[in-house]
Amino acid sequence: MSLHQLVYLSQSTRKMSKEYLLALLKQAKANNAAIDVTGSLFYNGGWFMQVLEGPEATLAALYAKITKDPRHHDTRLLYKEPAAYRTFVRWSMNMTNLEDRQADKYEQLVEVIEAAKAGRKINAISPAVTLLNLFKS
Ligand SMILES: Cc1cc2nc3c(=O)[nH]c(=O)nc-3n(C[C@H](O)[C@H](O)[C@H](O)COP(=O)(O)O)c2cc1C
Repeated sequence: MSLHQLVYLSQSTRKMSKEYLLALLKQAKANNAAIDVTGSLFYNGGWFMQVLEGPEATLAALYAKITKDPRHHDTRLLYKEPAAYRTFVRWSMNMTNLEDRQADKYEQLVEVIEAAKAGRKINAISPAVTLLNLFKS
């Protein structure tokens, strides 16, 4: 089935502690590995931005499940397109917590989430594509 990438933005219902984030990550990793999904999750203390990669129908079902999760709300689908390659090929799910200011690509990722929240582009490129471009090898 054809490979797709999906990117969404959502607001965390309450502030997620490190322990909660790790529990979420563990759950996502285990589930995604079993359904051939890869991706990355970014959290800035109030908002999530997540990239999901996998077969189109699998992503549709997973996204439907994720949007119902009470740990977040105001889910906004930013991007859903076919892809030739996976950007996060090594990760059933990776996580970057931007509360850690030392995080790799910290400045760019903060800007990507702020632009997504505001619905604006970054140098004429959508935040979702900017995010994917940041991690393209
Ligand atoms: C921000 C966020 C990202 C999530 N990402 C994933 C994910 O990548 N894969 C996944 O299976 N579940 C993810 N979840 C959890 C799902 O919403 C759901 O709780 C979980 O898949 C249920 O797992 P279970 O069917 O094993 O009980 C995420 C939840 C949140 C709040």
